[in-house]
Amino acid sequence: MSKKERILTGDRPTGPLHLGHYVGSLKNRVSLQDEYEQFILIADIQALTDNYDNPQKIKDNILELMLGYLSVGINPEKSTIVIQSQVPELAELTVYLMNMITVAQLERNPTVKNEIRQKGYRENVPVGFFTYPISQAADILGFQANLVPVGEDQLPMIEQSREIARRFNSLYGQTFVEPKEMLSEVPRLCGIDGKEKMSKSLNNAINLNDSSDAVLEKVMKMYTDPTRVRATDPGHTENNPLFIYLNAFHNDKKEIEEFEGRYRLGKVGDIEVKKRLAEILNNFLEPIRQKKKEYEKNIPLVNSILKKGTEKGRGVVQQTMRLVRKAVKTDYFG
Ligand code: TRP
Repeated sequence: MSKKERILTGDRPTGPLHLGHYVGSLKNRVSLQDEYEQFILIADIQALTDNYDNPQKIKDNILELMLGYLSVGINPEKSTIVIQSQVPELAELTVYLMNMITVAQLERNPTVKNEIRQKGYRENVPVGFFTYPISQAADILGFQANLVPVGEDQLPMIEQSREIARRFNSLYGQTFVEPKEMLSEVPRLCGIDGKEKMSKSLNNAINLNDSSDAVLEKVMKMYTDPTRVRATDPGHTENNPLFIYLNAFHNDKKEIEEFEGRYRLGKVGDIEVKKRLAEILNNFLEPIRQKKKEYEKNIPLVNSILKKGTEKGRGVVQQTMRLVRKAVKTDYFG
């Protein structure tokens, strides 16, 4: 039997899961868990780097994230869910890795640069936030992950993790696996406003735990084809969120083609397509809502899944740390 390759993925627990998360990562994780040894890290320490003033929010969202994972089909028998703060060895590893990268390298990280701009930190970037790519490298290297499934914005983190691993390995001897990114083929899902990215902060998301009424209301407000004034005007289906969502969530390709044909000819109104889309999304979400309800009735079970996963994950990182301490000669007492 060949050894399975190891995957590490992670999320900051900062808000509800939405359809964009489903299309961009959750769906992928559900299928990857069969072929790979998959660890999923709830990155609460990383979330605190820009939410240190609101720890309650992070705490509340950890349970939300757990319920979301389990209700979309992450199977705790196959995937290991770990909470970052309860693996203190990751913090220890971060300190050693800080010596492997320069301030200038960190300053060049385009994702962090962007976030610093968006958050308006200017000269007042907290050190914890500025250095979170090192902590993320510790996550990835601590777990000895071969593969990290990511969206494009996370590519610089993987690149820097690799640089840090190489530097460490060449200074102290082979210690870390060099991780590779696994870019998912699924394009990111646009928001209901047609903006490129669905995101809580842009207020353009359909959440996995939205009620069916909320879904209908959001779909009815959806941005469609701005060039189309009347239902009888020929419409555009490409780059039209209605059809992007239909293609992402509906299995009946024939029905989609039929809608597309009529839409282009001006033979179907937005309202009819929207009503059908809301129905399709609600059919997709209903079993997820049901499963979530079941887990909500058994929170101790959810907590024990997280505890067991964390113990297993911590074991892996502790093993890595034995190698690291040996490499940097801090293994004083064996
Ligand atoms: N930075 C990731 C995000 O914002 C979360 C994360 C933390 C992560 N540690 C990780 C992702 C390790 C992959 C591997 O979504």
